[in-house]
Amino acid sequence: MSSDFQRYTVTAALPYANGPVHIGHLAGVYLPADIYVRYLRSAGRDVKFICGSDEHGVPITIRAQKEGVTPQQVVDKYHALIRDSFLDFGVSFDIYSRTSSATHREVSSGFFRKLYEEGKFIEQTSQQYYDEQANQFLADRYIVGTCPNCGNENAYGDQCERCGTSLSPTELINPRSMLSGNNPVLRETKHWYLPLDQYEPWLREWIVEGHKNDWKANVYGQCKSWIDQGLHPRAVTRDLDWGVPVPVEGAEGKVLYVWFDAPIGYISATKDLLPDTWETYWKDSGSKLVHFIGKDNIVFHCIIFPAMLKAHGDYILPDNVPANEFLNLEGDKISTSRNWAVWLHEYLQDFPGRADVLRYVLCANAPENKDNDFTWKDFQARNNNELLATLGNFVNRAVVLTHKYFGGQIPARNELTEFDQEVLQQLADFPARIGQLIENYRFRDALNELMNLARLGNKYLADTEPWKLIKTDEARVGTILNIGLQITASLTTLMEPFLPSTAARLGSMLNTEKAPGPLLATPMLCLSDIN
Ligand code: MF3
Ligand code: ZN
Repeated sequence: MSSDFQRYTVTAALPYANGPVHIGHLAGVYLPADIYVRYLRSAGRDVKFICGSDEHGVPITIRAQKEGVTPQQVVDKYHALIRDSFLDFGVSFDIYSRTSSATHREVSSGFFRKLYEEGKFIEQTSQQYYDEQANQFLADRYIVGTCPNCGNENAYGDQCERCGTSLSPTELINPRSMLSGNNPVLRETKHWYLPLDQYEPWLREWIVEGHKNDWKANVYGQCKSWIDQGLHPRAVTRDLDWGVPVPVEGAEGKVLYVWFDAPIGYISATKDLLPDTWETYWKDSGSKLVHFIGKDNIVFHCIIFPAMLKAHGDYILPDNVPANEFLNLEGDKISTSRNWAVWLHEYLQDFPGRADVLRYVLCANAPENKDNDFTWKDFQARNNNELLATLGNFVNRAVVLTHKYFGGQIPARNELTEFDQEVLQQLADFPARIGQLIENYRFRDALNELMNLARLGNKYLADTEPWKLIKTDEARVGTILNIGLQITASLTTLMEPFLPSTAARLGSMLNTEKAPGPLLATPMLCLSDIN
């Protein structure tokens, strides 16, 4: 469905700057987002690709405590590491910002203050858990206990990671402090709440009625079940000293809840990128806003952030939130604490220059509709059988034979057989088909179509056998290789969103910039067997 939108604002979840990124992040969020954006750019659309580090919240301060450093040191270290990993994997953000920036403090404070002044919050004093030994209120992940929903004994104060239920600390059974391990006491404190219940009728109409058919089933289902269970006011402030200070009087020692400030980070990052024109990307109804996230972020991006945007009033809402499921590793859940992950920066130490291989495997096996498993065996098989034996083999044959028979000059296309015409017709259908799939967030299917094009190329060469005809009919071989190179050139363009560095190498090999002209001297694609 090519839409009437004039421009695209594409965001990818801001990763917490409390650890490196792994294959699950790439497969679930950053790779599909990057494929989508690269495709839009190649189609000449106006698109901005926004991301940055999420540098507030309890995961950061807990990590700092563990490592015996300051929260600022933690975020500085991981912000740089994460940013570089994304760069190394060709994730082509227009900006990779951070929520500790001055712009973000200003934008998120301003957002809060507007809602505050317009009376959009409820101010409420309540009893909250407090650690008397650490002298601290126990927000979110500072408190753990048993999940009332599934019985997981290590559920956090904001969410149970096993069943995905969003929780408040007082719902936990047998709560304990992460700081001292003690059972906490209750103490009075004042906070500001966004009355989500007031937005329920509107959310129901917007999502349950309005996005039944265009949002992914996993996303729509989670939203609907949330709304059906009834929405409640949610605190948007916390008693913590790390975060954006609550910008109103009488709020000393309080900061914005990380899930209040972080999504506003998309807006502040856009402002960092485009100080003069950022508002067009967020306030003009001709802009299509798309959030790429993992499934644990669905409620924040589909319910809470939209309610914030609605309360504010100036902003557009997401057109789609194509969240993915999770990727497991060798049959086991990826876990930072158990160090069970393939870290992106470590992968590149083991496979230097092979970022595209991982991009390929992760897209081919992306957890689009259900959790999926990454295995090294599958990685090896897909590299050897698909990237090499199918894609690499076809491209090499087309290019090598052209060098051998025509000195690297693209031969003329002479009379076409019926088979040639059929193949050219099939070739002509691929770009629209692949584009359509990408626009519908079906990246695995799109990649499979790309490989089908390489399969078509292989079949064409195998059926026409130019290596046999060369002795008798050079003109016919010229036509065959001309068509083979046409398929190669299309493959180069169409693979760019998926395999950007391979596409760049192939593009310079084919001289596509200056085509038609001589091919370059080195006809080998830098693909190799993985043992
Ligand atoms: N840091 C969060 C996570 O890793 C994602 C934040 S997305 C944003 O789960 F919208 F809040 F920025
Ligand atoms: Zn649970």
